[in-house]
Order: sequence, then C-alpha cells, then structure tokens
Amino acid sequence: MHLLALIVLGASASSALARQVILDTPNEPTKQQFHHDPSRWTVFNNTIQRVAVIGAGPAGLQAAAALVEHNFTVRLFDRAPGPGGNWLYSEEVPVRESYPDTPTGKKPWLPRNYPTTLYYNNGDDGLTLDQRWREHWQPRSIWNSLHTNSPSVITELEDVPYPPDHTWVISAHKIGAHVRAYASLKNLNTNDNSSVHSYSTRVEDFEKVGSKWVLTLRHLKHLEEPDRLKVTYWKEEFDAIVVGSGPYNLPHVPDIDGLLQWSKVTDLNTPAGFSVYHSRVYRNPERYSGKNVLVIGVGTSGSEIARDIAPYAKNVYASHKNYEWDKLHPFQRRSFRRFPKETKFIGEIEQFKPLQSLNHGIKNGDIKLKNGTTLTDFDEIILATGYIRANPFLLKALETIPGNPPKDFKPPADVFGGGAWPNVHWTGNYIADPTLAFTTVRPWTAGKWQSYGFAKVWEGTARIPNEAELWRQYNSSRWNNFRGLYGTGPSQALERQYVTWLNNESLEFGGRLVNSPPLQNREIFSYYANQEWEFSYVTSQNFTHFEELPANDWSKEDDLWEALLEEDSFW
Ligand SMILES: Cc1cc2nc3c(=O)[nH]c(=O)nc-3n(C[C@H](O)[C@H](O)[C@H](O)COP(=O)(O)OP(=O)(O)OC[C@H]3O[C@@H](n4cnc5c(N)ncnc54)[C@H](O)[C@@H]3O)c2cc1C
Ligand SMILES: *[C@@H]1O[C@H](CO)[C@@H](O)[C@H](O)[C@H]1NC(C)=O
Ligand SMILES: *[C@@H]1O[C@H](CO)[C@@H](O)[C@H](O)[C@H]1NC(C)=O
Ligand SMILES: *[C@@H]1O[C@H](CO)[C@@H](O)[C@H](O)[C@H]1NC(C)=O
Ligand SMILES: *[C@@H]1O[C@H](CO)[C@@H](O)[C@H](O)[C@H]1NC(C)=O
Ligand SMILES: *[C@@H]1O[C@H](CO)[C@@H](O)[C@H](O)[C@H]1NC(C)=O
Ligand SMILES: *[C@@H]1O[C@H](CO)[C@@H](O)[C@H](O)[C@H]1NC(C)=O
Ligand SMILES: *[C@@H]1O[C@H](CO)[C@@H](O)[C@H](O)[C@H]1NC(C)=O
Repeated sequence: MHLLALIVLGASASSALARQVILDTPNEPTKQQFHHDPSRWTVFNNTIQRVAVIGAGPAGLQAAAALVEHNFTVRLFDRAPGPGGNWLYSEEVPVRESYPDTPTGKKPWLPRNYPTTLYYNNGDDGLTLDQRWREHWQPRSIWNSLHTNSPSVITELEDVPYPPDHTWVISAHKIGAHVRAYASLKNLNTNDNSSVHSYSTRVEDFEKVGSKWVLTLRHLKHLEEPDRLKVTYWKEEFDAIVVGSGPYNLPHVPDIDGLLQWSKVTDLNTPAGFSVYHSRVYRNPERYSGKNVLVIGVGTSGSEIARDIAPYAKNVYASHKNYEWDKLHPFQRRSFRRFPKETKFIGEIEQFKPLQSLNHGIKNGDIKLKNGTTLTDFDEIILATGYIRANPFLLKALETIPGNPPKDFKPPADVFGGGAWPNVHWTGNYIADPTLAFTTVRPWTAGKWQSYGFAKVWEGTARIPNEAELWRQYNSSRWNNFRGLYGTGPSQALERQYVTWLNNESLEFGGRLVNSPPLQNREIFSYYANQEWEFSYVTSQNFTHFEELPANDWSKEDDLWEALLEEDSFW
C-alpha cells in the first residue's frame, strides 16, 4: 500500500495495513512521526503507484518482481528481445563501436510528435535492417565459451537454485538460462501474457515533468513480407523509476596514435567486418586458425579470449602497460596467470604507423612500441580495453530534476564512469529525488534486499532520512560504496546494515522478515576467493558491524570485476 493509503488508514487498525503486518506491534506514535516529521525523514509528496524498471538483467528483474509483489503498477523495459541482460547470449554482434570513444552526453535522434510510427526498408539511409536491429538491442559482450569468474554460490538468483553438485563456475549459457528461469518464475519472460514487460523497447530519454517522470520509448519490430522494420516511439508517465541498465553499455577504445586509421581497415572475414575491433564482438575461436592475433589489454576479457583462441591461432600477442607485479590488483594478477603459456607479451604501444592503403589488411602495418621496437605481421587486433561506465541519456535526465545538480555540485566527467555511481544513498535512492533509484549493489547477492528496500520506501513501510542526512551519509566514507560483494569485509558489514534496516522498518511499519546470507555460503565463497582470487578477505576482513568499517578508501576494490573494467586498471 502506498503513502496516501497509509495516512488515511493508519490511525485505525485498517485491514489494508494489517495484511502486511507479519511482525507484531506497529508503533503508532513513530508512524505519525514518520509521516509528519519531514525534518527527519524523506516525505514523498505524491502517492507512488506506477513504476518503470529499465533493464531486465539480474538487477532489473529482481526489482520488477519485488515491485509487482508490492502491488505497484510496474513496467519493465529492455532494449533486448528477452530477459537475461548481460547473459542473453547471441551470435549477433553489436554494431561498430565508435573510434575514438563517443563523447558522452550525446542525445539520440527523437521525433517531434508522440506516438510516432516509422517503417524502414533494407538499405534506407545506407543501413541494413540487420544493422538497425543490432543497433537497437545491442547484442551482449559475452562469448560462447565464457564461464564466470565468480563462483556459483555468489552468482545465483533466489528461488531458482542451480542443481545440487553443480560446478564451481558456470557457463554463460547456463547463467543465461538461470536468469530466464527467474524471469519465467516471476512472470516476466517474453511469452508471459503480462502488461508488465516490454522487450525490444529501448528507453531513449526520461525527464522529470512536475511530479512525474516521463519516459521516451522506442520499440522495434521486424515485419516480414515485405521485409521491413516497424519502429514505434511513445511516452509513458511514472511516479518512480528504477534504473537497472547495467554497467557495460559503452565499449572503450584506447587513444593510441594511428589507431583511428587502422580502425578503418575492413576485413569481411572478421566478426566485426574490420581488422581491429573491440572484444565485445568476440564469440568463437575456430576462425582464428593460423592467424597472428594481437590482444590489447590484459584484463579479464583479454586473458580469457587469449585462452580461447590460443589452440587455433598461429601466435597470440598481448600488449600491456608497465606494471609492478606487487602493485597489481589480485584480479589483474589472476588475469596474467590465466593467459595461455603460448602468449607473447609485448609492452605498451606508442603508435600504429600510417598505412599506405585501407584495402589490404593490416598485415604489412608497423606497430611501434614504447620501448622503440617495431612489430609487424598481425592479422587481427582485439581491443580488450574495457568499458566506459556511462549512460549519457541518464546524465541528461538527472538535469531535469528541479534544483539538481545543486549549485556547488559539479558532476565529474565520468559521473557514470570509472566505477563511480551517481549520488545515491546506499538504499539505491537518488538523493536529489528519491523517486529515482539505481540498482547499485551486486545483483546476485544483494539485489533482493535493494529491491525490497525500494518497494518498502515507496509504499511507505520504510523510511529513508531527509536529504541533508542522505548527503551526510553519502559523503561519509563508505556508505556510497556499498556494492554487496558477498562475503567481503566492508560489504558484508553493510549487507548486515541493510538487513537490519529492512527488518527494523518492517517491525515498525509492516512487512516480512528478511534473512542475512547463509553463513555456509560465505564459507564456500571463501574457499573460492582464497584459491582463485588470491584473496583471503573472508578470513582477514570480517567486519561485522558497520561502525567497524575501515576509514581507508576501498572503493577500487569493492566490486572486483568492475574495478578491472577500466583501461587504467590494465584492461
Ligand atoms: C564479459 C563479461 C563477463 C562477466 N562475468 C561476470 C562474472 O563472471 N560474474 C559476475 O558476477 N558478473 C560478471 N559480469 C558482470 C555482469 O554485468 C553481471 O553479472 C550482471 O549481468 C549485472 O546485472 P545487471 O542487471 O546490473 O546488468 P545487465 O545484466 O547488464 O542488464 C542490464 C540490462 O539493461 C538493458 N538496458 C540498458 N540500457 C537500456 C535502455 N536505454 N533501455 C532499455 N534497456 C536498457 C540492457 O539491454 C540489459 O539487458 C560480466 C560482464 C561481462 C561484460
Ligand atoms: C515534498 O515537497 C516539499 C515542499 O515542496 C519539498 O521540499 C520536498 O523535497 C518534497 N519531497 C520529495 C521527496 O520530493
Ligand atoms: C498486494 O495485494 C494483494 C491482493 O490485494 C494482497 O494480498 C497482498 O498482501 C498485497 N501485498 C502487499 C505487499 O501489499
Ligand atoms: C492476456 O491477458 C489479457 C488480460 O488478462 C487477456 O484479456 C488476454 O486474452 C490474454 N491473451 C492471451 C493470448 O492469453
Ligand atoms: C621491446 O619489446 C619487445 C617486445 O616485448 C622486445 O622483443 C624487445 O626486446 C624490447 N626492446 C627493448 C629495447 O627492450
Ligand atoms: C555532501 O557533498 C555534496 C557534494 O559534494 C555537497 O553538496 C553537500 O553539501 C555535502 N553535504 C554534507 C551534509 O556533507
Ligand atoms: C529502528 O527503528 C527505531 C524506531 O524508529 C529507531 O529509533 C532505530 O534507530 C532503528 N534502528 C536501526 C538500526 O535502524
Ligand atoms: C576474522 O576471523 C578470523 C577467523 O575467525 C580471525 O582470525 C580474524 O582475526 C578476524 N579478523 C577480523 C578483522 O576480525
């Protein structure tokens, strides 16, 4: 039930409220304070009924499921044709990435009137239907043989457990099926007859208009006979939004002298149609037979792709920046160790020397290293240089919140990049307007609490502090860095904090009890972490109270996978 209902019904022991009170003793005076003391708590001025969830990956699916369970009118949007997020494997590849990187903040083309329907034929504006389709949904960056680098015990969604005795790590295909199973269980799969989800629907823009959020949406449908695409644009209004759009939308290409020219060399035999391409289009190794392949970047993608192609390729080279072994992140050391033994490591590239022609491959092109050596004879170059944590459309949307950003607040250029998140409270609520929430935690392990948290806050059965206190907590050390990597020191303490907060609020205002993660899972995870990640953080950093959190900056290590997805961190 939502705020309005609570205010009206709260005084009497209403049936609406009673339905939710599983725990006993709702405390009337405190509830009054909750609703009438904006000096302490965030008070939502409007009933929240319609909620949009952007993204149907592990994070967005859990958010949508929790909100449906709490009787909100939910709309779940994903640009992809089905649920799964990052784990929706496809042999299709994304359209060509931008060389150099796309400037962030560029808005997409939008029609003047809504709704608008457009039809595209093959070849219109020089684009094939297939190109338009792939541009719309952006096939994911995963490859056929990919297995997780996180153990299954921390890469599993509630309610759809893996079979007993499953492997330590799981294939991307199995994870994809697992996420789809979760979607099916929650009635969120493509074939569920439900008004909740809209797949193949991309959120182009959103803005705050009065008390509402207005989303601009673009749906794409392939029509046969005649072969064409139907594109529909429309707008929908919401009271609240959950952004679960994932961290890896925008590939990063390095800024190396001469790369721009080399990036134009076409090769129709490659998955991308070019001789130089980003790792996100990598799918299968067989076609690398007899080739000299240069992988730039030695992070997780680089090492895993090198492993995959080594049995086929003639030579695999890997270019890395200078490093001191002891100063590498343990994940970076792991990646180095994961490279196949055949790898020929080379230093950082200074220049791709100008090519005579763009039509004869890169085989005769010279690559000058920073150490002065020049190398040649490469067939293909894979840029395993990571992702920019950016969602330009979101940045624009945030500017439409009245009074935001505050005068003294200058968002860093990479406000959605480099592992930095927008100014959200640890509950996921955006501080300047808590009717907007971001899925900021590790979805597998903490997404269920964060989702339950939004639902409770928006229905009025949990409080978040007032804006000044939200900022104070945000600014103070680690609150904003809660990512929920299960079992780690600071995150573990914050997980407990989250669970405590949820249960405490339920005791006051109604709601079910939630549990902390099972201790045995933490132990299983610790075996894996100690062995595979070279981390003993479960035994050495087992803080249990949030007061015990260390003052030092752990932000670089919070989500280890993401920490590596930056060129600076050796991608
Ligand atoms: C190569 C690779 C390997 C990985 N391996 C692991 C691993 O081993 N273990 C692990 O825990 N994590 C791994 N990850 C991280 C992965 O991102 C998470 O496991 C998980 O998928 C994150 O869930 P999410 O729901 O936040 O985002 P995602 O799964 O990325 O889902 C986000 C969804 O939002 C949609 N979306 C984005 N923008 C829009 C828009 N404008 N309109 C509509 N929809 C939109 C996307 O289409 C996507 O479906 C890996 C990532 C990559 C790239
Ligand atoms: C509710 O309205 C008051 C007064 O306009 C405003 O200060 C406050 O920020 C609003 N609350 C929210 C959550 O937007
Ligand atoms: C949602 O509505 C159903 C049907 O009215 C009710 O049984 C259920 O308790 C409600 N759930 C919550 C969390 O309010
Ligand atoms: C889908 O659900 C709606 C509303 O419940 C119903 O009217 C419609 O007949 C259903 N369609 C199918 C194909 O089941
Ligand atoms: C520079 O790097 C290349 C590739 O690793 C190596 O073969 C060469 O010996 C190095 N040259 C110098 C001067 O160190
Ligand atoms: C927190 O930081 C923001 C952004 O730097 C600043 O505007 C605000 O005044 C700070 N608030 C508190 C309570 O420290
Ligand atoms: C629990 O709720 C009570 C009553 O509102 C409040 O005083 C207390 O600070 C809360 N405790 C936690 C840990 O949130
Ligand atoms: C964590 O637990 C281990 C084993 O019980 C113990 O040896 C260690 O001192 C603890 N570390 C901290 C920081 O409390």
